[in-house]
Amino acid sequence: MSTKEDLIHGLNEDLAAELGTVIRYTYQAGKAFGFRGVELRELLAEEIQDELGHAAFLMDVIVDLGGEPTTTPKTFAKPDDLKAMLDLDLEMELQDVEDYMAHAALADELGEVELKFKLEEMAADEAGHARELRRLLKGL
Ligand SMILES: [Fe+2]
Ligand SMILES: [Fe+2]
Repeated sequence: MSTKEDLIHGLNEDLAAELGTVIRYTYQAGKAFGFRGVELRELLAEEIQDELGHAAFLMDVIVDLGGEPTTTPKTFAKPDDLKAMLDLDLEMELQDVEDYMAHAALADELGEVELKFKLEEMAADEAGHARELRRLLKGL
């Protein structure tokens, strides 16, 4: 039987991942050079806004559930080469999809209906990010 504490813990892991993604994408935008780098910078600029929205939502929900939101970002690898950056981003977006779906199921189990749907929606956002990254990777 899962508890509200399990849900708060899971959401804090998601929040750490979102904060890490905002920093990772901002960092990668600074390290992306050349014509392909320009394309990556454009994509990352859009996605950073989505991830900030996700982080803000998670902060609110964790507080609402009586928890303390983390401000510590998840750490990430820093490859130099553009393809390795994109491979890493794709892998981490897919991990986010998996985590959000798992936590949506947890929210469902605890009767948190709105949260369940919002987490599924965020999983869909991350799946969309993964699709855009796959498109960029195909062209490399
Ligand atoms: Fe996100
Ligand atoms: Fe994402």
